[in-house]
Amino acid sequence: MNKPVSVEDFEKRIKRVLVTEEEIKAAIKAAGKEISDSYDGRPFLLVSILKGAFVFMADLCREITAPCEIAFMAAKSYYNGTVSTGEVTITMDIEQDISNYHVIIVEDIIDTGRTLRDVVALLKARNPLSLKVITLLDKPSRRLVDFKADKALFTIPDHFVIGYGLDCGEYYRNLPYIAEYSEE
Ligand code: IMP
Ligand code: MG
Repeated sequence: MNKPVSVEDFEKRIKRVLVTEEEIKAAIKAAGKEISDSYDGRPFLLVSILKGAFVFMADLCREITAPCEIAFMAAKSYYNGTVSTGEVTITMDIEQDISNYHVIIVEDIIDTGRTLRDVVALLKARNPLSLKVITLLDKPSRRLVDFKADKALFTIPDHFVIGYGLDCGEYYRNLPYIAEYSEE
């Protein structure tokens, strides 16, 4: 994607809406209730993977009524256009000692599975009370390493998607819905 683009070109690449704003809202409300209902007196630490999961994190944490803290990690998966190259680097780590928390990793999408495989291994080694993964989107057909989230709100086909935190060349994160990206 060459930047900047005209508004017309920007809009032209939003091929079709896959998950609407209303569908996302309803699913997150239910997930927030489920997490709150599982509260056992020990706090949750929600760990969001930047940048893609920032919108999901903001909405999910506001649907949780039990005590919880939030933290951010940044992972960079290198992309050649819209295809992952397989390299994952943790560029920002959390500061908390997680041994007294139920940790929930909040992710935007699971594609090849490599990012979460690495992040889960890293956090597990720090002995949290429990460790779960919730993802907004799952593309199981693209998996290259064996990885399954504890909860995936939407399972989508093998399309490159944008919006609700997810980008293409850093654009489109601000769309309030999930859309399929058009290459042409
Ligand atoms: P994985 O390591 O291949 O599972 O990829 C995970 C990361 O790649 C996600 O957290 C996203 O940031 C990015 N990603 C994967 N698929 C898409 C997509 O369809 N649109 C935008 N970003 C994506
Ligand atoms: Mg991500």
